[in-house]
Amino acid sequence: MSIIVREMALAEVDLVIEYFHGSTPEYLDLLGVDPTRLPSPDVWRERFQTDLLLPLDERARYFLIWLQNGRPIGFSSCDKIVFGQRANMHLHITEADLRQRGVGSGCVRLSVDTYFEKLKLKSLFCEPNAFNVGPNRTLQNAGFKYLKTHKTVPGMLNYHQAVTQWVIER
Ligand SMILES: CC(C)(COP(=O)(O)OP(=O)(O)OC[C@H]1O[C@@H](n2cnc3c(N)ncnc32)[C@H](O)[C@@H]1OP(=O)(O)O)[C@@H](O)C(=O)NCCC(=O)NCCS
Repeated sequence: MSIIVREMALAEVDLVIEYFHGSTPEYLDLLGVDPTRLPSPDVWRERFQTDLLLPLDERARYFLIWLQNGRPIGFSSCDKIVFGQRANMHLHITEADLRQRGVGSGCVRLSVDTYFEKLKLKSLFCEPNAFNVGPNRTLQNAGFKYLKTHKTVPGMLNYHQAVTQWVIER
């Protein structure tokens, strides 16, 4: 099984847009995502187009695609980026039947290495919904350290919620 993690190209951003727009309200709730905060597909594509033209040290967001045997199976992104310092990571396998087979942990490890290298990070945070077991277990598996459980808005698509805060420092 060959796994590749690399920067997402503009031609690939529909993976993200279709994943969120194609999800049920119940699934979005598990992620702590507010469906009313999803940009329309056209607006979202334009936003990607603008973001991807920026040099890395000016990006507000940075997306990686996860490929298994050449096929897109998921993605990770960073936001709250302070280049050279810190960022917050998100993680998603887009097809339900590919989850819980060990793929996510490997993709997270490769994503972490890429973020530290490309964004010159010192700290990488991740704040999944406190009740969402999958990412919490996966982050621990991938070497993240648990910091605290608190309430925040973890990303631009999320509502205010209880999250567990994890970090890797290098
Ligand atoms: C989070 C995610 C990327 C992890 O990838 P994955 O391939 O499912 O994870 P792995 O198979 O590598 O599992 C890693 C660990 O998490 C556990 N795990 C994963 N999903 C789980 C679930 N739904 N319930 C309980 N445990 C789960 C696995 O058992 C494993 O633990 P172990 O090694 O202690 O046995 C994937 O489950 C996913 O896309 N989930 C939906 C999206 C999501 O919740 N994203 C987080 C938003 S912040």
